[in-house]
Amino acid sequence: MRQRVFSGIQPTGRLHIGNLVGALNNWVRMQEQYDTIYNVVDLHAMTVPFDPDEFKKSRLNTARLLLAVGVDPARSLLYYQSQVPHHAELTWILSTITGIGQMERMTQFKEKAGRAGQNMGLFSYPILMAADILVHRVHAVPVGDDQAQHLELTRHLAERFNSRFGEVFPVPERITPEIGARVMSLQDPTAKMSKSDHSDASRVGLLDEPDVLRKKFRSAVTDSGREVSYDWDQKPGISNLLELFSFFAGRGIDDLVDEYADAGYGAFKSAVAEAVVEGLTPIRTRYRDLDDAEVARIMEKGALEARTRAEKSMRGVREAVGLGAR
Ligand code: TYM
Repeated sequence: MRQRVFSGIQPTGRLHIGNLVGALNNWVRMQEQYDTIYNVVDLHAMTVPFDPDEFKKSRLNTARLLLAVGVDPARSLLYYQSQVPHHAELTWILSTITGIGQMERMTQFKEKAGRAGQNMGLFSYPILMAADILVHRVHAVPVGDDQAQHLELTRHLAERFNSRFGEVFPVPERITPEIGARVMSLQDPTAKMSKSDHSDASRVGLLDEPDVLRKKFRSAVTDSGREVSYDWDQKPGISNLLELFSFFAGRGIDDLVDEYADAGYGAFKSAVAEAVVEGLTPIRTRYRDLDDAEVARIMEKGALEARTRAEKSMRGVREAVGLGAR
């Protein structure tokens, strides 16, 4: 049996190169050898304020962008989380074995609760994420660094469930890229690039037009000195750009440092921008060519298959906890 992989992305705001480098690139690569299941996690996105009409569009546009990036419906199961109610059912079961203290330690909750106001959905968000992963009993989860703590919770809940009710869930591994697991903001290289940052100049959208993108790189905050070198302590701005350059140009960091050490920041930044423009152009073109009705059809088909698979898995879970049909 092939090993299973699951990952998800929230349909909030606009997807950026941090999402691509930290996670989506691995989603696409893993399709080669794994049984891959990918999710637009719309229920998670409801934990911050939203407008229903906008939300509907964002869900569809996110699905469309995932297809444009290279998620292949012939090889991966792709669907909206809300269309498979088993995620919510397992969330409830897992929440009965989760400690409140443990949830209070979640850093993303602490950060977001300050900004968006408190609600129970935001608090139990990581349990829904654990349920997403465990409902499909997957072995590996490709995510960026910022999801490390949520993955640890998931592993912990799988172990706790198994020790209480018998071996049901594999304990999933986190898969992160070697470089770019944490892409930083172009305006503040000490903060991660984020969909929710109020400054649009801080992030590079996957659909940004080349000129917009070039401008963002031109105005990217760099460090003191003149030399291009890879040193996260002394040169976080340049190091972040070097990682992006390496990803998009498919070249080693040492090689890039050799070439650009004395080129000056200006020339270096325009070279990074050109590599990113080249890498994103095919995504923008595919995105434009996709048809909304076709995307909707793919998502419906995915949900149908995912429901069948999740129901089979949940039968085992219900059985284990004494909620079997007979
Ligand atoms: P989300 O929607 O914030 O981000 C989607 C993916 O992009 C990664 N990422 C980054 N990687 C590198 N640098 C960055 N600056 C950067 N910003 C975002 C994230 O790590 C993530 O992999 N809770 C999740 C969604 C989720 C999920 C799941 C993921 C829900 N259920 C189950 C995996 C498995 C989230 O908010 O991701």
